[in-house]
Amino acid sequence: MAKSRFEYVKAFETEDRLDPKHWIVVALRHRRYDELADTYDLEKPNDKRLVQLFEASARSVMGEFKELVLGYGFGGEFSLAFAKNTTLYRRRAPKLLTNLCSLMASSFVQLWPHHFEGLSLLDPPSFEGAVHLFPDDQSLRDYMTQRQLACHHRNLNNTVLWSLVRECGLAVDEAQGVVRGATSEGDKNEILFSRCNKNYNKEEDVFKKGSIIVRTSTQASVRTPAGSVTQRNQSCLTNLCFDFVKDQFWSEIFVLDQPTKVNAKTNYLKDFEKKAKLLPHSWIVIRIDGKGFHKFSEKHSFAKPNDIRSIELMNRAAKRVMEEFPDIVLSYGQSDEYTFVIDRYSRMLDRCASRNMSSIVSLFGSTYVHNWTEVFDDTPLQYSPAFDARAVLYPNNSCLRDYLSWRQADCHINNMYNTCFWVLVQEGSRSRQEAEGELRGTFSRDKRDILKEFNREYDKEDALYRKGTIMYRDELQNEESEATQASGTESCRGSRNISVEHIDMIGDAFWEQRPWILGKERTVRTLEDIDY
Ligand code: GTP
Ligand code: MG
Repeated sequence: MAKSRFEYVKAFETEDRLDPKHWIVVALRHRRYDELADTYDLEKPNDKRLVQLFEASARSVMGEFKELVLGYGFGGEFSLAFAKNTTLYRRRAPKLLTNLCSLMASSFVQLWPHHFEGLSLLDPPSFEGAVHLFPDDQSLRDYMTQRQLACHHRNLNNTVLWSLVRECGLAVDEAQGVVRGATSEGDKNEILFSRCNKNYNKEEDVFKKGSIIVRTSTQASVRTPAGSVTQRNQSCLTNLCFDFVKDQFWSEIFVLDQPTKVNAKTNYLKDFEKKAKLLPHSWIVIRIDGKGFHKFSEKHSFAKPNDIRSIELMNRAAKRVMEEFPDIVLSYGQSDEYTFVIDRYSRMLDRCASRNMSSIVSLFGSTYVHNWTEVFDDTPLQYSPAFDARAVLYPNNSCLRDYLSWRQADCHINNMYNTCFWVLVQEGSRSRQEAEGELRGTFSRDKRDILKEFNREYDKEDALYRKGTIMYRDELQNEESEATQASGTESCRGSRNISVEHIDMIGDAFWEQRPWILGKERTVRTLEDIDY
């Protein structure tokens, strides 16, 4: 396939490979978990259906990613550990993180109706993710034990709180005061026992200890196509409730190579989180791309070369992302990819690379699935798609423009090729191989000629397919601008209308007519100017 002159911008992309022989743990957290109980009128402090939905979503992620060997979750979080020696995606942290994160979110949406029958999901979720890299078995054990301890504290507090409200008739803030006043665990157990007649030990294990999912491998007899029987390694996922603090888990259930022991000091673990900050004052580009969309499009009988329904779904998901994150100034989509450009001066999610990538990709994936039935009508969704994301920094406006030009040129090159290819196959009765042969080595001019033979003119094809989709915020009105500056916030941005266009942004005209998108460059002289 031809290449454009903008390809050089690929040089700004980084690899971010994780060290070999370390445990990779991806921790995912529902961004609005605390609002779910009130929004859906769920049982407090724990709703079994929600716990099971989280478990099922994590199971579906572990089912898809066979290299995940251990999962642990409670509340709105789930941590997933890869086999220590995994070479999946050559250990690129953003790719591992974002694939899991988007699949978790899209599975959550797809599985919701199975767990909440008759209750519609109103808002697709977004998950924030982090990558932890642990150098030895002890730190993996310490991490999991620490998360289970957090589960215990959270659940004990919430059980006391909601028991006081329900059983003793206290107001919520009154009950919160009581919980705050009870400093030790003993105090909390005592309050539960004496005031609410409840024994914490008798609460359900899954609420007290969280959900563990372990991959175990077994030998199974499999019949080969030739009819003989061979032994194969088969893995299966098991749900458990167990104490990570006990040696037995690590020596019998999830057997570690190195000897480990109970360790009360887990503060050191925070240094193992990969927390790359995105450089200040650089444009942040988050590009997401559908995982295995070639297969996904075949499985769901997408029209060739372009399926308007898929584009509609991608655009709806992108719009939702822009509504959620007001600092995204522009987005651009084509095929199974979408680019989000975050204002270079934004402090969105602390400019933390993982938080930005995971929040965007998961909201995108969950919205895609949430809108599926409305857009695809009678084509049922067979499985949840995953998307990956990467974050790339561009230091100035010209690089950013070249990046966007690169993606739009790519859209043009691919679409012209695909349009010709499918015209030859569908209208010219060529086999796929013949069409491929006929197009090999052709230039743009040749392809236009081929189309003319079928009475089609490339420039008259739908601009949606030729140019892709650009979304950007309209210009800030004067009074809004003043209000924004006066309040020192960017809150007005989110309420601005989002324009959707299918036009050229490689030339200067697009940018000259909309100067507010790139804005003015700020001069930095002191640390305060950087605002960090
Ligand atoms: P990875 O991204 O590496 O996981 O592979 P992928 O299969 O997603 O391929 P890639 O992202 O390179 O390309 C996207 C693929 O999605 C295209 O090659 C098409 O097969 C498919 N695709 C995207 N949009 C459409 C569409 O509108 N119609 C059809 N038929 N296919 C589409
Ligand atoms: Mg793809």
